[in-house]
Amino acid sequence: METTMSTTRQLQDEIIRLKKEKDICILAHAYQSHDILEVADYIGDSYGLSEKAAVAPQKTVLMCGVRFMAETVKILAPEKKVLLSHSEADCPMARQFDAEKIKKLKEQYPGYAVVAYINTTTEIKTVCDVCVTSASAVKIVQNMKEKDILFIPDCNLGAWVAKQVPNKNLQLVSGGCPIHAGIIKEEALAVKEKHPKAEFLVHPECIGGVSEMADYIGSTTGIMDYVKKSTHDEFIIGTENSIVQHLQFECPEKKFYPLSRKLVCHDMKLTTLADVYHCVKGDAGEEIILAEEVRLAAKKSLDAMLRLG
Ligand code: 13P
Ligand code: SF4
Repeated sequence: METTMSTTRQLQDEIIRLKKEKDICILAHAYQSHDILEVADYIGDSYGLSEKAAVAPQKTVLMCGVRFMAETVKILAPEKKVLLSHSEADCPMARQFDAEKIKKLKEQYPGYAVVAYINTTTEIKTVCDVCVTSASAVKIVQNMKEKDILFIPDCNLGAWVAKQVPNKNLQLVSGGCPIHAGIIKEEALAVKEKHPKAEFLVHPECIGGVSEMADYIGSTTGIMDYVKKSTHDEFIIGTENSIVQHLQFECPEKKFYPLSRKLVCHDMKLTTLADVYHCVKGDAGEEIILAEEVRLAAKKSLDAMLRLG
């Protein structure tokens, strides 16, 4: 079979056959390529993927995304075999902080609750109080009983949350997504000028100077849902460029313009359809193994996220 598969469709058919035969659930983040989304059981943003982790009936979960997403599944569903589609697929923001740095910050801000973006390592999840995602951060921070909050690692997401929850005192620490935060205001102004009729949709990982011009700010799924409901015909997409491609498939009658051609997450792009095939076949993919005491310590902040979100 291996050497005779020549088309994307044939490879996809074989993946679908193998995942059923081997009881594998394929979870795919929305930044994965379109051919991968077509074989996934569930596509979503970080919050949606976390919710699906525990309820998927299959014994094995293949996470097509980056490391922290696969680790989140393992933390929430330890009885499942969890595979990361490509062992080098990591989110660079997830490693911007370590437990030692958090310890120092806690000493600097005694009494503050620590809120960590889910784009963090499992180690960070063991020392924070609550995790948040872009889709759930505002609601979670609003629902927390604490007023003083140390928000790590994405200061752009944190600033966006702080604006919407003015009754809370958010302390932001420098950190963020190197891809989204690399887009400057002048680039956004130029694209808006080129497409004056387009609605401007951005991910909250963008800098404040870019977000403040947006018609909508939200998670990857939030952006896609917004487009489907909007009566507008043209959109500038201020997040990873795969979302432009997915939207073109889903809404072929509408027009989509990338905010910048630099909005490419190379870690998210590491996984190919051939990798997915090899993972379901059983000769690729990294199995996520976590020490039980670490998993349990990290689970508290994810449980709090699902409870408050
Ligand atoms: P979402 O939760 O919005 O999918 O964001 C994840 C991410 O890594 C965005 O860069
Ligand atoms: Fe991480 Fe940014 Fe890539 Fe999202 S786009 S996975 S935050 S590096």
